[in-house]
Order: sequence, then structure tokens, then C-alpha cells
Amino acid sequence: MKKSLIVMGALLIMSSIFAVSCGGNSSSSAASADGPTIGVTIYRYDDNFMSFYRRNIESRINGKANLIINDSQNNQAQQNDQVDVMIQKDAKALAINLVDPQAAQTIIDKAKAKNIPVIFFNKQPSAQAMASYDKTWYVGTTPEESGDMQGKIVVDTWKANPTWDRNGDGIIQYVLLKGEPGHPDAEARTSHVTLYITNNGLQVERLEPEQTAMWDTAKAKDIVDAWMQKHGDKIEYIFCNNDAMALGALQSVQALGYNKEGDTTKYIPIVGVDAIPEMINEIKKGTVAGSVLNDPVGQSQALVDITLNAAAGKDPLDGTTWTLDEVKAVRVPYVPITKNNVNVAEEAYK
Ligand code: BGC
Ligand code: CA
Repeated sequence: MKKSLIVMGALLIMSSIFAVSCGGNSSSSAASADGPTIGVTIYRYDDNFMSFYRRNIESRINGKANLIINDSQNNQAQQNDQVDVMIQKDAKALAINLVDPQAAQTIIDKAKAKNIPVIFFNKQPSAQAMASYDKTWYVGTTPEESGDMQGKIVVDTWKANPTWDRNGDGIIQYVLLKGEPGHPDAEARTSHVTLYITNNGLQVERLEPEQTAMWDTAKAKDIVDAWMQKHGDKIEYIFCNNDAMALGALQSVQALGYNKEGDTTKYIPIVGVDAIPEMINEIKKGTVAGSVLNDPVGQSQALVDITLNAAAGKDPLDGTTWTLDEVKAVRVPYVPITKNNVNVAEEAYK
């Protein structure tokens, strides 16, 4: 009797230990890992470039943290609510792709109140917002560089193809599709592409005020349809702030018989930024002039490195080779991409 009680007691203790250890495991969901909870927002999942960026973040964070990742559906109020929930769920760091670049301060104030680090990416907040909290950093690029590199592609390809000057006046008659107004990338690309061209000895003539297609293919196609109807082949170059819009411009001119693969006689050069795989295909076919690699691998790596360090309370650059500039930003370099070096872009988007 005594013996069996002892055995039963031992079994009870063992089973309760077992239950505790099992309970400990099952309380964290299948998708979670042992690491800290990290909250990530993407301004819009259906943004072409951001979809690559997101996949890279997810694969890099996999197993190292419990990831809460949300689509802010291009709605800043919704993103603010998502951040509140992440804070409630005890996120140890936030990685935020703002909807509205002006909304950084709202997010910073929420995080600062709980002493949670915030790492912004892709849409750079103002220097003033960045300076308002010591635990905020930015991961992105030097936007002016992409405009300059796009300008360089225009200058080089224009000089190599004298027939592109269809009216023979030596001036590039162009139109420009702009990304989201107020987005630092859109603003810098818009001003720098023509600045680079004119600083390098070529003249440009803007046939139409630039219009925003909000980084979007379908919107870009509609705008270029209207421009083509008005100007036709008087347009000698189409500059686009990103590839999604460049692909829309391409659809538009192709529908009118231009830029067919292998036909260089009816051709309006188009240049973009990002070097996403769909654009790389077109560069290879020769249906567009080029693009500028906006490296999602480098940027997501920097973002994940810094976010995990910050979540662990370490120096953000701990164990990395990234460097911060005077506004606490890591800037991943762009690369100009044409037919000769498409492999560089293919590597980055593998
Ligand atoms: C990219 C665009 C993208 C935008 C989103 C830019 O850096 O070049 O393709 O739509 O970021 O914020
Ligand atoms: Ca001309």
C-alpha cells in the first residue's frame, strides 16, 4: 500500500513535470520561435518591389524571432492600430515601412513611451523625427543615387543609339512617371535623373508635366496611353521612378506596336528603378533600356540584423559590417543595370 502510494505520487509528479514542459512548448504557436517578438509592417503587400522585400525579411527572420507581420493596406490609421497591437503583444522591436512618410513621429511616440526600438525602412522619416528618439534607425538607400544612375543609363544609351533622336534636334524629348509624391525616393529620382543628364552635356525637353502613377503598373499604363495619344513618337524617352510603372509604360507602347522584341525601328526607350525580375526579362529582350538595382537582399539583411540586435538590447550594428550615417541610417548602394550586367540583378532577386 505504502509502496504503491509512493509510486503513484512519483507518477503524479512526473506527469505534472511533463505537462509543464509540454505546456511551455505548446503555448507558443507553430510559426513562432524562441527569440523575441518582432513587429513588422509593410505599407502595402501588393506593391511589386515590397513583395520581394517582404519575402526576404521573412526568410531572414525565420527561426530567430517570433514574427508579427502586417499588411497596412496603404492606410496609415490602420498601421497605427497594428503598431498598438504589436506593442500590446510585447514586441521587443518594431520594423516599420510607413504608409505616410510624415507619420513617423506618431509611431515613434508610441514606441518611445514603452522604450521599444523602431527601425524604419524604405520610406525615410524626416531628420527631425529621427532625432527625437535615440532608439530609432533607418534602413534604405541614398535616393539621389538612383536618379543619378538612371540619368547615366539615359546618357550612355542615348549616345550609343543616334536614331533615338527621332526629330534630329539633339535634345531628348521625354516624359516622366513619378512615384508617390512626398516619398523621398520619388522626389529625388524625379529631380536627379534630368539633373544628371544636363550636367553631363545633354539637353532635355519635358513634353508633359510629370504625373504620379503611385508606383503602379495599371495607373502608369493609363497615363502613358494618354501621352501617346497626344504626342505619339514625339516622345523620345520615358523615365520612370520604378519598374512597376516602367512595365505599365511598356504595355502602353507595345499595344501601339512599339518596342516589340527584336524590332529596333519602332522603339521608345524606357528606363526604371528596382531591377525586379519582370523588368530584368524585358532588359534581356531589349524591350526596355535599363533599370537601377534597388537591392532587396542587402536592405532586408541590414533591417533584420539591426532589428534583432535592437530587440536584444545590443548595439544595432553589433556583429555586422553595416555603418550608420549622421541621421542613423544604413544606406545600401544602388547599381545601374543594362543588358551587359543583368546577371548582377538576377543574383540579387534569386
Ligand atoms: C521602390 C518602389 C516602391 C516604393 C515603395 C521604392 O524604393 O523603388 O518600387 O514602390 O519604394 O515605398
Ligand atoms: Ca530629339
